[in-house]
Parts: sequence; C-alpha cells; structure tokens
Amino acid sequence: MLAFIGGTGLTRMSGLTVIARHDINTEWGAPSAPVVEGELAGKRVLFIARHGDPHVLLPHQVNYRANIAALKQAGASEIIAVNAVGGITTRAPTASIVVPDQIIDYTWGRDSTFFDKRMAPVIHVDFSWPFTPSLRQRLLDALARVEAHAVNGGCYGATQGPRLETAAEISRMENDGCDIVGMTGMPEAVLARELGIPYAMLSLVVNPGAGKSDREITIEEIEAVIHAGMGKVCEALTTMVAGV
Ligand code: HPA
Repeated sequence: MLAFIGGTGLTRMSGLTVIARHDINTEWGAPSAPVVEGELAGKRVLFIARHGDPHVLLPHQVNYRANIAALKQAGASEIIAVNAVGGITTRAPTASIVVPDQIIDYTWGRDSTFFDKRMAPVIHVDFSWPFTPSLRQRLLDALARVEAHAVNGGCYGATQGPRLETAAEISRMENDGCDIVGMTGMPEAVLARELGIPYAMLSLVVNPGAGKSDREITIEEIEAVIHAGMGKVCEALTTMVAGV
C-alpha cells in the first residue's frame, strides 16, 4: 500500500476518506499520530502526520523510527513524504514543488538507524541514491499532469532546527550543493531505506532560505504559500494514486 507522511501544512489530507485509525505501538516507541487508513481516488492508502495531529512535535522531537516502523506494520510498501522547505538556489523558487534526488544531512543527535542494537553482521545500507527513481518518476508524471510548477531533482539539505538558518549557513549549504533546506528529511529517508521501503519526497518551497531575500522570513509568509500550494500537492498525490 502507498503511504504518505504529511508535514507542515498537511496534517490531514483533503480528499481522503478515512476507513480506520490504527493506534500502533512499535519496538521503537509510539509514532507521532495514529496511522490513518483511507481511500483516495478509489484506492487504499495510509497516512501519518509527521508532527502529530494536531501539529505539536518539533522536527528534532519526531520519533522517525516509530513513524517508519508503524507504517511498515500497517502495510506500507512505498512512502511519499511531503514537506515544506526553504529555497536556496534559483532552481527552487518560492511556490515551486521540488522532487529532490539527493540529500546532505546536517542534523545531529537524532536516532537515525534501526541497526544500533548489537547485531551481527554489522549493517551499512547503500544510500548513494536516497530516493527511489521509479517512485520519483511517478510523482513527476502526476505533477506534470496537474500542471504544477515541478522541479525534477535537487539536493535537500536537512538541518536540525527548530530555528531557521543563518545567511552564512545557507551560503555554506549552497556551496555544498544544496538546492533546498528542510528539517525533517533525515533520518526519515534513511530509515525507510533500512527497512527496504521505496521512498520519495515532494517538497513545497515556502520561503527563500536565509539571506536569499531582503526580507525577514515570517511565519505569515510561509503559511500563505502553504495555503496556496498544498491544494496542488494533494491534487498531484490523488492523481498519482489514481495512476492515470
Ligand atoms: N529552513 C529550514 N526549514 C524550512 C525552511 C527554511 O528556510 N522553510 C521551511 N522549512
């Protein structure tokens, strides 16, 4: 079953008919919220609110292992993660929707592996290409079908938050090759990889990264872009599920 992880601005999914809410406990603790099983475009899908419902968990407080494990237990065979990000390069203007193909991880202190119990043999997953190409392509096809301003590829820089970055940090990230910046892409993506679940990300650019505009970044500005853009995101996801 296809599963969605909803981020800021997508605590509930419009168009989803809820069939059941599964309160799942995992070996890694409780997930952010119940896993919602529902119907979208006539197909069974799963949904979880990354920050809880209501939205209360900060990016570093999310139990990413429990969220991914709970989705797996509920029957997820593929994951699309939705998140709001800042734009760094001209490739990622505000209001565009990026389907990244790379990640740089700047987070710290998060539980970022399922394999930290003493296990033999020691496991190192391949993460050269952190997003599943076929799933990315289905997302891009759906985005094209709904005529979204979609960007094929880009590097997602995952920061610790919850504060936004300094202009120097964004400048360093740009030099590193990052196109967008968010706080939740890691360790989520690698945990899906560790469990062998195909994973792709859809990132709505909601503000220019620090120092990339002459204005302060305000929550009002971010919320306005989220409000304007999440409808299109849901439309694309519904189209993808419908498989038309
Ligand atoms: N930085 C980090 N995370 C974000 C941003 C940002 O500018 N905008 C939305 N999420």
